[in-house]
Amino acid sequence: MATVTSTRPYHIIIFGASGFTGQFVVEEVARSAFEGPSGSLKWALAGRSRQRLEGVLNQAAETLRKPELRTEVEIIVADVSQADSLAIMCQQGLVVLNCVGPYRFYGEPVVKACIENGAHCVDICGEPQVVGSVVTQHRHIKCPSLWLNSVMYNNPVSYLLTGTLTAVESFLTIHTGPEGGCAHDGTWQSAIYGFADSGSLRKLRKKFGHQPLPVVGATVKKRYCKEIDQYAIPFMGSDPSVVRRSQRFLYEGHQELPVQYSAYVGVGGVWSLIKMFCGGLLFWFLGKFGLGRKLLITFPEFFSFGVFTKAGPSRKQMEGTSFSLTFFGEGYAEGLDPSQGRPNARICTQIHGAEPGYVATPVAMVQAAITVLNEPQFLPIKGGVYSPGAAFARTTLIDRLNRHGLVFSVKRF
Ligand SMILES: NC(=O)c1ccc[n+]([C@@H]2O[C@H](COP(=O)([O-])OP(=O)(O)OC[C@H]3O[C@@H](n4cnc5c(N)ncnc54)[C@H](OP(=O)(O)O)[C@@H]3O)[C@@H](O)[C@H]2O)c1
Repeated sequence: MATVTSTRPYHIIIFGASGFTGQFVVEEVARSAFEGPSGSLKWALAGRSRQRLEGVLNQAAETLRKPELRTEVEIIVADVSQADSLAIMCQQGLVVLNCVGPYRFYGEPVVKACIENGAHCVDICGEPQVVGSVVTQHRHIKCPSLWLNSVMYNNPVSYLLTGTLTAVESFLTIHTGPEGGCAHDGTWQSAIYGFADSGSLRKLRKKFGHQPLPVVGATVKKRYCKEIDQYAIPFMGSDPSVVRRSQRFLYEGHQELPVQYSAYVGVGGVWSLIKMFCGGLLFWFLGKFGLGRKLLITFPEFFSFGVFTKAGPSRKQMEGTSFSLTFFGEGYAEGLDPSQGRPNARICTQIHGAEPGYVATPVAMVQAAITVLNEPQFLPIKGGVYSPGAAFARTTLIDRLNRHGLVFSVKRF
């Protein structure tokens, strides 16, 4: 059980608590505080403006009707551009929940400060280049820190693996209520900068020098799936590559055969697909040069057809929104040789949850931290950069997520 001490007084520090996502992580930590070691959690907010952090704390105290938050939760001032302030912040906590993005500008110094100062780091980075770069720079460290992201995708894939599966495809669908829905432009900005720098991803992957993972069973052709009753396009975030990292860890470290994994996101009917295609072309064109990126960043609502806004979704919109992540797995029944014939076993599982970006993601992030604090004996012995599928394989994280509204179910065999 992880204990706080006088020199390390907090179980959890929420860095970037004043951001759009950060405020919801603050509320989720406040709701889950009783799940900390020995039934309580000592936690603090961190960021570069004490005033903005106090505002977030006041808002959380009011929304949750917990006035005690104003006096019980402390504030640490830290700025990514000031390494000393990051070090002082990381020395005070066991786990840092990092909500400061875009991660390509601010993510790596926080991981480094956590590693150097013995704190675990959990973030919600969806930018493949950042994940690649952090892994390249810190994969050989031998210290107690764990760096984790992509909790939502990783663990479901591990959950699906029954030993006979050879391929998994996942489809994310988002359902909005009558109020509609959108995402905050923090994610839009991360996507713009990530796209502008997509060439570096290939170079990074070369730098790893990994041997390709073996393909087990019949090769899965990339396809657009009918099962979710929507058109779907490949999911561009970091999650598929993080899942593949988990597969590599389990293959190289534990001789578990890897599955072929592809991730898609549902975009709706044919009209949405056309809109998406046009928007994608415009995004591709403008994202290539500085002035175009400036336009995209200044007018997110216009260029994303209302998917991303500067204000982010309202609470009412968030209440009406939910998501399903459906995983279709196929493989070979017990005793059948995957090198022979077509797969003859199928499984479909689903995770269903509330609004994905600012309700489910904070839940996943906070439950990952609570798992790290409560179950250190089930985490990898060596510190380092781990994907969640690897780090949490032996923990009760999925049960915890289930209890917090991220419901995992097996739909059919
Ligand atoms: N994976 C997922 O599902 C998921 C979901 C939601 C968000 N995200 C990611 O989370 C990140 C944040 O998104 P958001 O919408 O919350 O963005 P945001 O509202 O712009 O928040 C950014 C935060 O970073 C802080 N910050 C910026 N520069 C800093 C610095 N130099 N030092 C310390 N703090 C600094 C800001 O502090 P100030 O308040 O002082 O400006 C603010 O708290 C994005 O990368 C987004 O893609 C991922």
